Amino acid sequence: MTSLLLLQKCEMAFQGTALSLLLMIASTSAQMAVLRYGTECPDPPVQQNFDIIRYMGKWFEYERFPNFFQVGTRCVMANYTLQENAKVKVVNAAIEKYSVDSSACPWYRDRIAVGSAEAADPAEPAKLGVRFNENAPAGKYWVIETDYDNYSVVYSCSPMSSMMQVFVETGWVLTRRKAEAPANLDEIHERLSQVGIDPSNFQLSDHESCPDWPTDD
Ligand SMILES: *[C@@H]1O[C@H](CO)[C@@H](O)[C@H](O)[C@H]1NC(C)=O
Ligand SMILES: *[C@@H]1O[C@H](CO)[C@@H](O)[C@H](O)[C@H]1NC(C)=O
Repeated sequence: MTSLLLLQKCEMAFQGTALSLLLMIASTSAQMAVLRYGTECPDPPVQQNFDIIRYMGKWFEYERFPNFFQVGTRCVMANYTLQENAKVKVVNAAIEKYSVDSSACPWYRDRIAVGSAEAADPAEPAKLGVRFNENAPAGKYWVIETDYDNYSVVYSCSPMSSMMQVFVETGWVLTRRKAEAPANLDEIHERLSQVGIDPSNFQLSDHESCPDWPTDD
């Protein structure tokens, strides 16, 4: 009985969320994705001698290209752990800005995604593929540059529709310290421009009043 009540409450909360999401989409011209029309994806150089062990641990999203998967998410952090099978366990945590903050329905508020990552070609260790579902194709996760201790620049570009020559670009600057710009952010942006990636697509991530993520589940 209790759980049925809880479900009903959450259902109502969810409908409210769906409505506010629709309103949000309708009322803003918020960009939902970075698309390239007719121009192929760039082929940027990636981090040389990529050291996956130094890359492990906790990263905060400092800025990102708006993308379909992350609409309305804030407080984004990732925790990477190297596993015995040499794959990387990926735990992404975020909260949804447009969902109800109700303790009755925590699963509408927190969004924790667990996936795994590996390099398809060991000769190119910085070109990782990430899966959140074993049956889905891996999404690209290319480490363009990182100093392991302060920042990382991640990029991917893939055809959305090869017929129409539309490509979706995603990009992130991640930092070890929450909401702290990397000291070399201007240089990072400049280098991205030089390889055909437009840094003006970045939007600053929101880390106001965020939870301390326990992402070790
Ligand atoms: C990078 O991180 C290390 C370790 O935390 C720190 O000592 C160093 O000052 C940082 N460098 C920059 C440029 O922020
Ligand atoms: C990251 O994951 C590891 C392994 O699951 C865990 O031990 C660690 O506490 C996690 N770190 C954070 C910040 O959640």
